[in-house]
Amino acid sequence: MSVLSGKNVLVGVTAGIAAYKTANLVRLFIKAGANVQVIMTPASKDFVTPLTLSTLSKNPVHSTFYNKDEENELWNNHVELGLWADLLVVAPATANTLSKMANGTCDNLLLATYLSAKSTVYFAPAMDLDMYKHPSTKNTLEKLQEFGNIMIPAESGELASGLVGEGRMAEPSTIISFIEQDILSGLPLNGKKVLITAGPTYEAIDPVRFIGNHSSGKMGFELAKCAANLGANVYLITGPTNEKVQHTLIKVIDVISAQDMYNATHTYFAEVDIAIAAAAVADYKPLKAENQKIKKKNDAMSLEMIKTKDILASMGASKEQQFLVGFALETTNEIENATGKLERKNLDLIVLNSLQDKGAGFKNTTNKVTIIDKSKDQIAFTLKSKTEVASDIFNEIIKRTNA
Ligand code: CTP
Repeated sequence: MSVLSGKNVLVGVTAGIAAYKTANLVRLFIKAGANVQVIMTPASKDFVTPLTLSTLSKNPVHSTFYNKDEENELWNNHVELGLWADLLVVAPATANTLSKMANGTCDNLLLATYLSAKSTVYFAPAMDLDMYKHPSTKNTLEKLQEFGNIMIPAESGELASGLVGEGRMAEPSTIISFIEQDILSGLPLNGKKVLITAGPTYEAIDPVRFIGNHSSGKMGFELAKCAANLGANVYLITGPTNEKVQHTLIKVIDVISAQDMYNATHTYFAEVDIAIAAAAVADYKPLKAENQKIKKKNDAMSLEMIKTKDILASMGASKEQQFLVGFALETTNEIENATGKLERKNLDLIVLNSLQDKGAGFKNTTNKVTIIDKSKDQIAFTLKSKTEVASDIFNEIIKRTNA
């Protein structure tokens, strides 16, 4: 998943030959999961057809203040379009449109939308090399950037005129990664590494049987998605689960037993900034996992069990720069028990869920938590979706770190 996923992107197309590349740009935005609407200047229709762009964007293309052909003429509200957009991307941006943008000219729908848009504005200049070099163009580009618009620089290469030089619109894939990087750089966890343990662990009894638990892994997966959406690189170490995630910033490490989870955790722990133990790790495992399937014999049988390693406590014991968060699932003396765990395991924050709360805990899509920090400050949250709980947890982490 890209950081562009779910973003509303308004693509402005102006009359340059590079407009043919905008078809691919729209396709790449859609592929990244963005919602796309296109505004064309009237002259840009000579270079790429509205039908191409409406088909690729899955939305009608806007180019005039009202749609003449409709039986009931429809007003294209530039203010609404501007408010809808999370980002406005003018690509290609010709010398003419850029100059108008710099001077507040407002003689078409794109320019009116630009003037009323509150979103981030990116522009990808496209023109012949001498136009690009001209002092008035340089002036325009500087002025537009002073206004807070973000330029995606033109590239060097062969131009439509046959001349070779600077002025070619950046390739659509370059525009996409430029914008993704720009969005990431503004996110609070950009450049941070986060480790999350999730799901249950399975402790083998013999080759076909194990001791496990009902953890779905949902909370851990939501935490991983939330961290990645905030810009972090995430190591998600998960026991067996049906949960799935696909995000460019999340590396999933599948494990089975508590020992596997312990090993994977300590492979990455030293390098991370934040670690959250959301896994329901088995506290005990069979002393010996039999190599062959155990045959039924007597009416009763017993298994000798030994303690597994406490992964969270081991992180607490070796932590340096890491901000460490644990979970506590309690049934009695909740606050007291959770605070005890926070101290014993050397945590910075503990997330308590009480099994007495309806909708909280294991298999649910909702959770009701109280977050306790090192100074024993408590924040009790209402019943929320696990997605919202993940976001509350990261808000509390961000408040307490330099992130
Ligand atoms: N945890 C862990 N490794 C273990 C056991 C627990 O990393 N072997 C982590 C869990 O991921 C959770 C926290 O420790 O973040 C609390 O686990 P819990 O089982 O509730 O607490 P315990 O310390 O095991 O105490 P008790 O069983 O007495 O409640």
